[in-house]
Parts: sequence; C-alpha cells; structure tokens
Amino acid sequence: MCGIVGYIGHREAYPVVLNGLKRLEYRGYDSAGIAIYDGSNLKFSKTKGKVADLQLKMESEINTSGTIGIGHTRWATHGVPNDVNSHPHFSNSGELVIIHNGIIENYDPLKKELIKRGYTFKSDTDTEVLVNLIEDVQKKEGVKLGKAVQIALNQTIGAYAIAVFDKKKPDEIVVARLGSPLAIGVGENEFFIASDASPFLEFTKEAIYLEDGEMAVIRTHKEIKIRKIHDDSLVDPYVQELQMNLEQIEKGGYEHFMLKEIYEQPDAIRDTFRGRMLVNEGIIRMAGVDDNIDKFLNAKRIIIVACGTSWHAGLVAEYIFEELARVPVEVEYASEFRYRNPVIDKDDVVIAISQSGETADTMAAIKMAKEQGAFVFGVCNVVGSSISRETHAGAYTHAGPEIGVASTKAFTTQITVLTLMALQLAKRKGKISTSDFHKYLVELESIPNKVTLALKSNEHIEEVAAIYKNTKNCLYLGRGFNFPVALEGALKLKEISYIHAEGYPAAEMKHGPIALIDEEMPVVVIATKKGHYEKVVSNIQEIKSRSGKIIGIVTEGDVDVRDLADHVIEVPETIEFLTPLLTTIPLQLLSYHIAVMLGKNVDQPRNLAKSVTVE
Ligand code: AGP
Ligand code: GLU
Repeated sequence: MCGIVGYIGHREAYPVVLNGLKRLEYRGYDSAGIAIYDGSNLKFSKTKGKVADLQLKMESEINTSGTIGIGHTRWATHGVPNDVNSHPHFSNSGELVIIHNGIIENYDPLKKELIKRGYTFKSDTDTEVLVNLIEDVQKKEGVKLGKAVQIALNQTIGAYAIAVFDKKKPDEIVVARLGSPLAIGVGENEFFIASDASPFLEFTKEAIYLEDGEMAVIRTHKEIKIRKIHDDSLVDPYVQELQMNLEQIEKGGYEHFMLKEIYEQPDAIRDTFRGRMLVNEGIIRMAGVDDNIDKFLNAKRIIIVACGTSWHAGLVAEYIFEELARVPVEVEYASEFRYRNPVIDKDDVVIAISQSGETADTMAAIKMAKEQGAFVFGVCNVVGSSISRETHAGAYTHAGPEIGVASTKAFTTQITVLTLMALQLAKRKGKISTSDFHKYLVELESIPNKVTLALKSNEHIEEVAAIYKNTKNCLYLGRGFNFPVALEGALKLKEISYIHAEGYPAAEMKHGPIALIDEEMPVVVIATKKGHYEKVVSNIQEIKSRSGKIIGIVTEGDVDVRDLADHVIEVPETIEFLTPLLTTIPLQLLSYHIAVMLGKNVDQPRNLAKSVTVE
C-alpha cells in the first residue's frame, strides 16, 4: 500500500512528482523515493522517512532537472523500511526503473529462477524481482518494453499498480494495474500518473482510470494505448471529467486534516442526503436501491462486510435496519468472512462499506459473495474506487476526500446513507407508517445543524482532554445504537494517541471490565436520554462506587448524569436511532485533542495507512 506518481511531458518532472507524493502520503509514509530522467542522465534519491526527508536529500544532493519522473511513498510489505528497499527499483542493467504499489505474491520462486539465470538483488522487495523479470523477458524475447511488461505480469500472482520506464526510450512510460488503483491525467502532450487524481488536479481535469487487468503504454505526442494484460485485446480509453477540486483536499486553515474533516461533517452529511431525501414530497430516491428494490425486498438476510470504522458504521446499520425494516442483519469483519467459509445464499444481500473503496479484505469478501450468487451493494466514499466498481450497485457517501488516517466524516456519512437505505426499505416493506417516515425525514434533515451545535463543545472537550491526556487506559461504554459508537470512540483514541482503549456494551461491564475500574480509570459513557437511559445511569453509579472517573456524553439539559459524572459533554436531542450521528462528534474531538497534546502525528499515525490494500 503506497502512493505512486509519474510524469512525462514538457515540464520539469521533479516538482510535479514531489508535490504529488506529498498529497499521496496518506497512503503510506515509511520511506520514499524519486527518479528523474533527462534523456541522458538518471538522477534518483531514496530514503527511509517521509517525503519531506526525501526532498531535503534530493535537493541537497542532485540536480533534479528532467521531463520524465516517477516517485513513490511506501508502506512496506516486503523488506523493512530503509533506503535500499525504497522505490524506485532498477533492473540489473540499470536501464529499467519501476515504482510499484501492491504485492507480488509469487516473488520468491520468480526470484530464485532469476538468481539461477545470474540476476542479483540489492533489496528485499518483491518489486525488484518484478523489474528484473521484465528485463529478463525483454532480453529473452527481444520485445519492446510494453510487451515485456505484459508477458512478465502474466507470470505474476498478486496485486500491483506499476509505472516503469526504459532509459533507452525516454518518451514512454508503461503502467498497469491489478488490485491497486491507478489514474492517468491527460494533458496537452503530457501525462500524469498517480494512485488517485489529487497529484494532477491543478494541471488537468481529464483522467482515465485503468480497470483491473489493464495496462497502458503512454507516449508523449501520441495516443495512449490501453490493453488487457491477459489477452492483449485493445480497450478504448474512457476519459472522465474530474469534479474534485484542489481546495477540497487541502487543509483549509485547520491545523490538521482530521480537525478539518470533523468540522466538515454538517456539510458532508447534508451532501450525502441532498437530492436523495425529498422531505416535502415525503420520498427517498436512491437509484442503486430503487433499481434493485426486489433484491432488497426478497432478501431473507442482509450481511454487512467492512473493516475498522466502516465496520462500526455497519454495526450501527444493523441496529437501524432491524429496528426499522425488520430484516435480519449480520455484520462481519471482511477479513474473517472471506476466510471462514460462510453460508451465503443467493437471496442474501451483501452490503460492503468502505471509505477508500480499496480495502483488500473487503474487496475479497465482495468477490467471494458474488461468486456464491449474492447481490452485493457498495457504500463507498471514493468515486470510481475498486470496490465501487466491483459491486453490483451502490450509493456513494459524498463526504469529499478524507485525508486524515483516522476516519471521521466517512463514518457519519456512511451512517447517513445506511439510514436512508433502511428507511426506504422499511417504507417499501410497509414496516413504518407514512407519518413516521415523514417525521424521520424531517429529523434527519435537522441533523447537520445539530452536528454544528455538538461541535460548539469543542473548547470544553479540549479542557477535558487536558485532564486525561496522560491516562494509560480508557473505557468507552454505550448501549443499543450507541454501543458501536463506544467502539468507534475507543478506536479513535487508540489509533491517534496510542492510549489503550476498549469499547464495551455498558451492561457487559459487570461481566469483566469492571475489574479494571479504579480512581485512575477514565470511563466515557454515552448516556443520552433515549436508549436505556435509566439502565446506563445505573452503570454510571457502579463506576462511581469504584471511584472511576466518568465523562458522560449526555442529552442537552440532562441533570441526572451531571450529578454523578466528573464531566458531561452535551449533544442535542434527536430520535434514538439518529443519536450516533451526534454522540460520535465529542468522541472524535476528545481523541483529537489528546493526540495533539501528546504531540502525536494526528493525520499520519504510526504503523497505519489510509487505504489498507494488503491483507
Ligand atoms: C479508521 O479510523 C481506520 N483508520 C480504519 O479502521 C479504516 O476504517 C479501515 O481500514 C477501513 O477502511 P475503508 O473504510 O477505507 O475500507
Ligand atoms: N511490495 C512493495 C514493497 O514492499 C510495495 C509496497 C507498497 O505498496 O508500498 O516495497
């Protein structure tokens, strides 16, 4: 999992590639490298660390001039993050230069074969094996680079988005993809290559997204030639007009992307239901659902597959679908589902949730469900992503680009889409009255304003964060619709502040976690008015009796919890099944402030990456 960038044309390639890598760092950031070619000299630099480290090294050591360039920001899969294992990698002759996102699973037998044939390797990567395999084919078969890449890729098993060029042909870059994303920006006699479109947005809005199993030979002053790797058939390039703008992906005055994205939630939720929820007419229109309504109406069961935060959104959806549409729902970690031989019926509807649309485990679960005849519906944020294309139908979340590794607006917009789906299904199944349906639409429409109100507690939350920033552990409790929110709150704290946190259904506390409670243990309890309020208040009493520190997330105007808790953070009142959209907000802010106070890298926490495209 990594970011790749390439350029070929008439500009200086270095600034294009360098800035592109900075925008793609969310995909991986343990090491980085760039190679620039001016037609006679190849200049390159590779380093462990971030793109900023690479920039320092590159600009102090070499002249960066040249109009062909490729760069890589890595998230290591094969070989530790160090200078040598960083990309680009070179073939033994030094003629071929490659960057790669993905894994060549059969690299070991291929490497052994190449060693027998006299090849040597500097790095521990699978990528260096691939570039030498291409060179070997080129030499053995006497073919051009494009053909050699094609023959070599047909011998590999695994996933890749690659860009490779040959020093002997400085007007050509060959790219290919299988399982990892690759976009080509089309300019005037120039082309941009990247893992997503953000590196080239200021240069062109025209893009081609390669499909899995396709490769392209890109030449300046020439048409781009796309073909299927497997059978060599030509594919007509489909050039799309991009709607994204650069401002959307920049920090917009906030200190971190995560904070910006937390504050974008009112708009993101509004954008997600806009055009779909027609409150005055009392209808919901969602093409992906409406066009396949029979599948949903006949479904004996809905299976939700996802990972991480998206899995938490799936859990919230389970409660909402069962409550409103009275259909059984199972929520599965995609990574478990894909390997445990689950029973899948052709009447099952599988909903795959993924912000990035690139998560390898979720993708594999989708493929398996499809093979077994299920109808698969995708809820993705990234338009044109692999999962959005692999599913039979779907609905986008319209959250806009989410750059912070910790997912925030993706979560609340996923819940919004899933709520719309549950409402539509409940209506079509006759499980809710027209007046309730209308009442729910009116309430959902008010949620963005209520999120804005919830955000107003930011300063108070910062004060609470200052008190607990040095804690070693933290418990999060919630019941019903807010149990998944407790899990999500704990995940947020863990991933950006590295504080150990656990989420639990509040009533489960007495079956074990209560033993952890002492005066050192902060417990965040979601105790909104609706949803077993009295029972949660009793749980709070139990914590208080054991001297635990209580941070209550409560409904505006609450008095009971205020009397018991050490701190309360208020959220506006709403219908019970919509409370997760509000109770999540203070938990996001709490973890954000703690991580900032601890000096952690909020947007790029250690060991993580935004799109987990490896299993
Ligand atoms: C969330 O904060 C995480 N960084 C992570 O759990 C994420 O939700 C998970 O990897 C799934 O990603 P996806 O939604 O892009 O499929
Ligand atoms: N497998 C390659 C490596 O370990 C690429 C990993 C990536 O996608 O960053 O270097």
